[in-house]
Amino acid sequence: ESKMSQDDLKRAVARAAFEYVESILEDSTIVGVGTGSTANFFIKELGNIRHKINGAVASSEESARRLKEINIPVFDLNSVGEVEIYVDGADESNEYLQLIKGGGAALTREKIIAAASKEFLCIADESKLVKVLGKFPLPVEVIPMARSYVGRQLVKLGGDPVYRENCVTDNGNYILDVFNLEILDPRKLENDINRIAGVVTNGLFAERTADRLFIGTGSDVKTIEA
Ligand code: 5RP
Repeated sequence: ESKMSQDDLKRAVARAAFEYVESILEDSTIVGVGTGSTANFFIKELGNIRHKINGAVASSEESARRLKEINIPVFDLNSVGEVEIYVDGADESNEYLQLIKGGGAALTREKIIAAASKEFLCIADESKLVKVLGKFPLPVEVIPMARSYVGRQLVKLGGDPVYRENCVTDNGNYILDVFNLEILDPRKLENDINRIAGVVTNGLFAERTADRLFIGTGSDVKTIEA
């Protein structure tokens, strides 16, 4: 029996997400589309039903480009009503579907689309499922002039922030990756960091968790519901 690669697992959860989206499609469905290698597999699958959906909203310029490449109309979030379903990957998830996102620097737009969506379906390979969040450094998007100030405040919260080199977000801001956090109360930390002046948002999705998580294991795709 050949071992499945991480890409095979990502492809399998993207396929499962596609089938789920197909099963809830209505006449005018707008699909929220995330960012990253797992989301990219989902974008490919979405091409199969491009005539059955109204279009998509994207959490990054990169995903918007990939969607347009396969002729899926991409809308500005302001010009659509409620987003039916949002599909995206994550860097970590715990069993409560609280997430760390932002490895691809798209956390702010991801958080906005998650907030504006009826349902948030997260897709990930099993390496992303953890007991306690924080092994993956927590991304924080900051206004450029606030970078050092925010860094000092993050140290006071117990983390080790590192400026992400050569990274400007789609919103024109910077990313601090915060190492060595053991996140025992994700909602509290999400709110504490977001209260720092100059922080746009951080990659904890604990106030608005995923609603459903598809996890790719070597043998199948498991579902966890919030
Ligand atoms: C981008 C994200 C991604 O969902 C996260 O980084 C996972 O990416 P990948 O599917 O490539 O592992 O939050 O900001």
